[in-house]
Order: sequence, then C-alpha cells, then structure tokens
Amino acid sequence: MAMTNDKLTTTAARFAGYITRREGRKFLQLSDKFPEPMAPQEKTERDDWASLYIHIPFCRTLCPFCCFNRYLLDEVKARRYFANLKKEVEFYIQRGFRFSDFYFGGGTPTVLMDELLEFINFLKKNLNVKRISMETTHREINPEAIAALKKAGINRLSIGVQSFDNDLLKAMGRLVGSGEEAKEKLKMAQGQFDTVNADFTFNFPTQTITQFGKDIAAFKELGLDQATFYPLTPSPHKKSKLERQFSKVDNSREKDFYDVILRELYEGGYKASTAWCFSRSDRLIDEYIIDYDDYVGVGAGSVGFLNGDFFVNTFSLEKYDELISSGKLPIMSWRRLSEREHLRYYMLTKLFGMSLDPQKFRQRFGDDANRKLWWELMFFRISGLVKDNVQIEVTPEGYAHNVCYAEGILRRSKHFKGAVY
Ligand SMILES: C[S@@+](CC[C@H](N)C(=O)[O-])C[C@H]1O[C@@H](n2cnc3c(N)ncnc32)[C@H](O)[C@@H]1O
Ligand code: SF4
Repeated sequence: MAMTNDKLTTTAARFAGYITRREGRKFLQLSDKFPEPMAPQEKTERDDWASLYIHIPFCRTLCPFCCFNRYLLDEVKARRYFANLKKEVEFYIQRGFRFSDFYFGGGTPTVLMDELLEFINFLKKNLNVKRISMETTHREINPEAIAALKKAGINRLSIGVQSFDNDLLKAMGRLVGSGEEAKEKLKMAQGQFDTVNADFTFNFPTQTITQFGKDIAAFKELGLDQATFYPLTPSPHKKSKLERQFSKVDNSREKDFYDVILRELYEGGYKASTAWCFSRSDRLIDEYIIDYDDYVGVGAGSVGFLNGDFFVNTFSLEKYDELISSGKLPIMSWRRLSEREHLRYYMLTKLFGMSLDPQKFRQRFGDDANRKLWWELMFFRISGLVKDNVQIEVTPEGYAHNVCYAEGILRRSKHFKGAVY
C-alpha cells in the first residue's frame, strides 16, 4: 500500500513537473511592446510593497557554466553602469515606487567596492533602506571587504562556492580560487552578518554523488547558517568547448543529488526555507520572489514582476547605456500573465517557499485559494504533495519531489533575475 502511495506521489510529481515546465515556457513568449511599470493608483497598506533587485553583471573571470547575464570586468564600463543604475532607480522613484528591501545579484556585485558603497549611500539618501542582501564570491572576501559591507548595512551575504573539490572546480572552469580558500573565507565571514549563505551547484556532467556528499559534509563541519543548492541549469554561453558542455544537462540525475541534500541537511539540523535553501534557524533567504509578491529589477538583464506583468530589461550593456542616456527605461520586453497563469505562478512560487498562506492569497486575489485553484490544490493534496495546516504546506514527500515538480516555472522565476535563456 505504502508502495502504491509512493508511486502515486512520484507520478503526480512528474506530471506536475511536466505542466510547470510547459507553463514556464509560456513565460518566455515576450512582447517588445510594453506599458510603463506603474505603482498602484489606490493607496496600499505599505508604500514599499515591491522589493528591488539590482543586477551587477561584472566578474573578474567568467565561469563557463554560468547562465546569468555577466561580462568580464571593464572598469570604465562598470563605473558608467553604476551611474546609469542610479538614474534607473530614480525613474522608479519618480513613478511613485518606494523600496525598503534590496537584493544585489550578479555577476559579482562587489567587484568595484567604491562604486557599490556609493550606490548604497545613494539608496539610503533616497529611500528607507531596511534590508540588503548581497551576492559575491569568496575571492572578494577579506577583512577590509567584510568591514566595508558591514558598515554599509548588508544583512545577508551570499558567497558562491559551487564545490570544495579542486578537481571539480577545475573541470567546471571556475577560476575564483581553491576549495581550501573558500573554506577560509566562509569562516572569516561567518558571524559577521545576520546571515551568511554558501551557494553550491549540483548535477555537473562529471560530478559524482560521492564528491557531492563530501561537499555537504564539509559545509556542515564549517557550521554555517545557510546553504543554497542550485541544480545546474543549461548555460546559454556556447562559444568554448567547456561552455558547450554545460549547455547540455542530464536532468534525470537531479533527484539523486537532491536526496543527498535532504538526508544530510535534515540530519544536520537544517530546515528547508525554500526547495533549494536550507537554514539552521529563521534566517534571511534570498527569495525576494517569495517574501515579496512583486519586485522591480534594475540593471542589464534583470526582470521585474508587478501584479501579473513581467518586465525584462535589455541584456546588452551598450543598449542599456543608450536607453538610460536618452532618458528611457531600459525595458526590452514584457509579458502580461493571464489570470490563470498569475494564480499558478503565485501558487508555485509560494510552494517553492514551502507554504501558501490562504489569507495573503485572499488579500491579493480577493477570493479563496481553494476556489480559484481548486483542481491544482486538490491534485497536490490527493497526491500527498501538500497538506492543510494553518497554511497550505508542502509535505516531506512534496519537497522530496519538489526538485521535479516545481522546477520548470521556478527555475525560470528565480534564475530569470539576470539569467539568459
Ligand atoms: C550568479 S552567481 C552570482 C554570485 C557570484 N558571482 C558567484 O559566482 O557565486 C550566484 C549563484 O548562481 C549559481 N549559478 C550560476 N550559474 C548557474 C547555472 N548554470 N546553474 C545553476 N546555478 C548556477 C551559482 O551557485 C552561483 O553561486
Ligand atoms: S558564477 Fe558568478 S563569478 Fe562565475 S561568471 Fe557567473 S556570476 Fe560571474
């Protein structure tokens, strides 16, 4: 009987995965005609109802597997880019937007520290800054950088590791330093911010489960607050042999890696904050798409989502500069979700964050979640992927399969920030 239930859950998860991948593809059908992003006309409870994602696309070296919009650091271009970013934020302020929660992603946002700190000061002068999350690599970490980022008020620092295994790092073509250096830098940063997160990637073509298990053991030994594990997403950069290797990913191996994550981290006292992020207590997570229903994206290749509308900025640095210099928003394309798509997108992003709050659902959509999404929720309940508590929660079976069923749509919304597809 247990076997039958398990089979049902697996089949349901696969089916849901298929549907979400199909739905996810629809999100990429973008139009190059777009309306201007608008703050709501009627008074909302909070004026900081949307968060702000800021994309800094520069890196000192480029990793061949990376699927994000990134460029080799060119100081002149990068300084101009920071100046343009301020203008883009000003556009939004002039249109009535107010932000208090900020997420810097990349690229490597810390590559030009003086510009980054000046930009944060600019935000503080113009907005009520409450919370800042920042991505970086361990190569950027040193006592001076930590002191500067603490002084600037960074709450959550996310450091990209990928793996501690030097052979794998070499195979990945990641040139930011050795596994030992990564451990040193993580220890240096630990305890200095509200949350320190380490990013790992899994399911690389040559990566073995044993290698991955060792990475997780090393992470646990370091005693860090949080880790996020990203399944390798095909890279759109296909010029070199290595880049071409990472443009093909064998998704069928993902679940084996994910099972190791679940087993090892739960045993280590970590809990899932999202399907991919594991924390030891109530820590800040990087999912502005979960904490905030709406977000604005600034910078080349960033994406915003405002009440059912996706806005995608140009990926080109030149076009970004040209549009901002001529006083225009750098939006390249747009997609308005139908009501059904919006409801499903909302449901899947919330379930990716482990629960859907029916009250918040009612506030956003003016109706009951079970009425609006009756067959989707019924399907998830019958297949044992969610259960009802105060909120609609993902079950242990649900997150064991999360990597499959949530994958399509969520990978796109999460990785869409600055990602190239
Ligand atoms: C875009 S990077 C930005 C921060 C920093 N530059 C770094 O390398 O960590 C953030 C994280 O995205 C993840 N990432 C990059 N490319 C990926 C890919 N193709 N598939 C899955 N995750 C990826 C890595 O875990 C990386 O640490
Ligand atoms: S993984 Fe990080 S350091 Fe490597 S290219 Fe992508 S953004 Fe840059």
